Amino acid sequence: MQTRLQQMKEHALDKLKHVAEAQELQELRVKFLGKKGELTEILRGMGALSAEERPKIGQLVNEVREAIEETIASKQNEIEKRILEAKLAKQTIDVTLPGLPVATGTMHPLTRIIEELEDIFIGLGFEVAEGPEVELDHYNFEMLNLPKDHPARDMQDSFYITEEILLRTQTSPVQARTMLKKEGKTPVKIICPGKVYRRDDDDATHSHQFTQMEGLVVGKNISMSDLKGTLLTFARQMFGEDQQIRLRPSFFPFTEPSVEVDLQCVICHGEGCRVCKQTGWIEILGAGMVHPRVLEMAGYNPQEVSGFAFGMGIERIAMLKYGVEDIRHFYTNDVRFLRQFNRS
Ligand code: PHE
Repeated sequence: MQTRLQQMKEHALDKLKHVAEAQELQELRVKFLGKKGELTEILRGMGALSAEERPKIGQLVNEVREAIEETIASKQNEIEKRILEAKLAKQTIDVTLPGLPVATGTMHPLTRIIEELEDIFIGLGFEVAEGPEVELDHYNFEMLNLPKDHPARDMQDSFYITEEILLRTQTSPVQARTMLKKEGKTPVKIICPGKVYRRDDDDATHSHQFTQMEGLVVGKNISMSDLKGTLLTFARQMFGEDQQIRLRPSFFPFTEPSVEVDLQCVICHGEGCRVCKQTGWIEILGAGMVHPRVLEMAGYNPQEVSGFAFGMGIERIAMLKYGVEDIRHFYTNDVRFLRQFNRS
């Protein structure tokens, strides 16, 4: 029995020496050490041994098993190491290869215009305010002196969520919200850029979602000339020092008097061209002196304070500044369009 064990050990170790594959190693493990393996087979003969022989042989069996197990383990290591090395060799990085260019994004033209507008107005002492896009009818219309039967309140023109809640159709509700927050204190001097929504059919100049920037100033002795001076300064910083603006009478329920403000055509400088429809002027915003009713509703005494407000379409400004002909370009995310606004 002793010799059988010895022979089996030698045979096993010799076989294992030449193993190269994990699969083959596994097969040999089963062959020598498995439940139906050679060692088990030998062990079965233990019953026939005498009481003195049994522990001796038992010890030898253990030694043989350990020797085989150790050899298998070290073979296993060897094979794993070789696989890993082969894998690493395959994955070697050639550091001399040219790298792939990193695609960096560019700032969206509307974001650029908003930042530029904020810079200009912060320079004039304004603060940037915010308001919700999902707005109460109360702030979007009621607080702005828009009567119940005003056409803008029609379901056809606004996106209503419930009877009382809608997507704001203008940034003007931020006027009311800001004044209420100020609790009658002056001065109020804010701008508010943000998204607005109207049930327009989209075309080259209309979009159901677009961007506005509201402006509001409330204080003592604020007059129409403050409005005009502020807007002229903005126009010149945005479009160049020789810019001219023109005020035309208009109507908004929340301003009195109300004006529409034209910019001298940035393309033809007043000569008349296709863009300005031969008039030399382009309308860029609505404005006016804050209506006394609006001041009153928001907790201000119109006998003591006055204010002006304006609201401009940011896309309009961006289209004029960058020569963009279709408003839809701002929303369709065509990288060929967006890439043209690279900062560098
Ligand atoms: N909210 C107006 C609009 O969307 C613009 C406006 C703002 C007019 C402030 C006057 C004062 O057309």
